[in-house]
Amino acid sequence: MITLEMTDRVTLVTGAGGGIGGGIANVFAQAGAKVYAADLEWEDAQATAAPLLSEGFAVEAVELDVTRKDRIAALVERIVEKDGKIDHLINSAGIMVSKPYMETTDDEFRKILEVNLVGVNNCCQAVLKQMIPRRQGKIVNVLSASSRMGSDFFSHYSASKFGLMGLTQSIGLAAARHNINVNGICPGVVITRLGEKQGGRLIQQMARYSGKDEALLQENVRKSIPLRRFQSGEDIGHTALFLCSDLAANITCQAINVCGGMRMN
Ligand SMILES: NC(=O)c1ccc[n+]([C@@H]2O[C@H](COP(=O)([O-])OP(=O)(O)OC[C@H]3O[C@@H](n4cnc5c(N)ncnc54)[C@H](O)[C@@H]3O)[C@@H](O)[C@H]2O)c1
Repeated sequence: MITLEMTDRVTLVTGAGGGIGGGIANVFAQAGAKVYAADLEWEDAQATAAPLLSEGFAVEAVELDVTRKDRIAALVERIVEKDGKIDHLINSAGIMVSKPYMETTDDEFRKILEVNLVGVNNCCQAVLKQMIPRRQGKIVNVLSASSRMGSDFFSHYSASKFGLMGLTQSIGLAAARHNINVNGICPGVVITRLGEKQGGRLIQQMARYSGKDEALLQENVRKSIPLRRFQSGEDIGHTALFLCSDLAANITCQAINVCGGMRMN
């Protein structure tokens, strides 16, 4: 029987308090997995977990800073103690700074790399330590359409996501000999709070710097997408679910665009 059911599987989602991570947690919980919804902001993780819990799905909200290796190791240990394993790691935690290239500071660049690149590496290494002896596991990293094309308005974010593409391929090669699949997903545009804490969301910042109307700009961005619609967190979750399923057993070191046709490479 062909199935995407994830009963008895254990899934750790980082950035699960966000728009995309929340959508991913939602999809895996509904597929039957036990989901650990991890986020820097416990209240946001809880906001993802609470409605799912009330519907009877197995979700636990956890506070996690992906830049803290000690905290990651402690969480992995706790999950393994409780559930015996981690089957899937989905790295969705990320931050973005959008402003003209010459205005971006060194500190902003370092912080983006620390969360988007080093943070993912921290989680991959910690979880692989328990996946490798079992010769079983799937990792999915949330990359970006900006992993494929540079930008002068979110240049350092783009650099972090290009780096994450290379890291995903490299970890995929290292993990392949242990029967573990590592892939990436490149979302196009999902309307979330991404960037809000770093000065403003992308379209908000575009409006601010250009003096154009934000709603009009958002509509123009939507119309520039071949399928004429933004992606949702669940769109990304569905692709992650496929990549973590047996149907994708022969797929590794790949990056899949989920962008309504915005990118074709
Ligand atoms: N929204 C988009 O259009 C889009 C497009 C392509 C890729 N992405 C990527 O998708 C991922 C999720 O973004 P989103 O749109 O859901 O944004 P979001 O801001 O809604 O979610 C990101 C989450 O990551 C969490 N986070 C930030 N720093 C963290 C840390 N140090 N440790 C743990 N959690 C941390 C935040 O608290 C937040 O809940 C990011 O990696 C982003 O780069 C987003």
